[in-house]
Amino acid sequence: MNEIIRLDQEYVASTYARFPLNIVKGKGSIAVDDQGDEYIDMGSGIAVNLFGYCDETWSNAVTQQLFTLQHTSNLYYTGPCAKLAQMLCQKTGMKKVFFSNSGAESNECAIKAARKYAAETKGPEYTTIITLENSFHGRTLTTLAATGQDHFHELFQPLTPGFVHAAADDCEGLEKLVKENKTAGIMIECVQGEGGVKALSKEFVSCIAKLQKEYDLVIIDDEVQAGNGRTGKLYAFMNYDLIPDVVTTAKGIGGGLPIGVTMLGEKVKDIFKPGDNGSTFGGNPAVCAGALSNLSRLDDAFLKEVSEKSAYLFKQLEHAENVKLVSGMGLMIGIEPEKGKAADIAKECMKNHVLVLTAGGNKVRLLPALNIPMELLEKAVDVIKDAFAKAGE
Ligand SMILES: Cc1ncc(COP(=O)(O)O)c(C=O)c1O
Repeated sequence: MNEIIRLDQEYVASTYARFPLNIVKGKGSIAVDDQGDEYIDMGSGIAVNLFGYCDETWSNAVTQQLFTLQHTSNLYYTGPCAKLAQMLCQKTGMKKVFFSNSGAESNECAIKAARKYAAETKGPEYTTIITLENSFHGRTLTTLAATGQDHFHELFQPLTPGFVHAAADDCEGLEKLVKENKTAGIMIECVQGEGGVKALSKEFVSCIAKLQKEYDLVIIDDEVQAGNGRTGKLYAFMNYDLIPDVVTTAKGIGGGLPIGVTMLGEKVKDIFKPGDNGSTFGGNPAVCAGALSNLSRLDDAFLKEVSEKSAYLFKQLEHAENVKLVSGMGLMIGIEPEKGKAADIAKECMKNHVLVLTAGGNKVRLLPALNIPMELLEKAVDVIKDAFAKAGE
């Protein structure tokens, strides 16, 4: 057996069902394994490598900062953190930002903001956060409680109390839950990722906007996966008629270094006081310098290209053999086979040097780097189509 795979299996906690592939380097959308074989990466490290592997602009921004100031602490001011917060607010209309290190942490902070706001405005008993069935919000005990998928919960009881789950796209059911509970807020992914790559309907999101006003709820929009240009808009909520009170993101904005971002809108911008939250590495200068560089490149012309690539993928895949359904938005795409298992299709793609992901609901999930060149997309699509056809035989 490959020595690295053997070491990993012996010494790394067995929380991941890894593919038998040891990736040693990468450039753009190409990953290279320890045999020197190349793969077109249609997963970008689960929506993290926004501009692919070792993108020069991002790498330069990070390394320049590393040679200047790699870390101090949140006891002092630093430029990259302040400038990134400013750019995020200017581009989204949000008002203040808390930085942490992961998607789960960004959601923890959002939940704290919603509960504190509700406690101060309605009373301390207003603690319930409504989330959606099939959602995914993270692996900490609180974000697991928020995650609307029972199979994640079973072995880790008791989880943080105060979460109930509503069916997606059912406005009446959601309002009933708002009334039945002492509700602080609603947390959604505009495009559900892990749970099946499914965009919420426009009507449902407008219904959430209505409830936001009627009940003064804190609406948390989890854009850990869907944010940072992936849907063809800078943030996924921009495809809908909703101004969330809190927007969280992570993954792609960091481009490969850990970051969590909790953006606070007008309603909750001053909810936190010193000591209410904190993070040793949150707002780290090197990570923020890279994120600032990434965010500044997501302009309208670039986002238009994302939408064009998306249209190409939908067109190619929608009528392909053994494809039942293509879902999602932008370069966040789920493909459900008529016959066969998504996991087997992913293995077949890997055999043919294309890396894809899977998601709930037996879907193959595509989350390529946003700057993937058309010729690589075309090659990858051929392999994916063949793998679907083979699974249908
Ligand atoms: C929508 C969403 N929220 C939260 C998370 C958790 O992020 P992290 O793994 O960085 O904690 C994920 C991770 O896949 C996600 O897709």
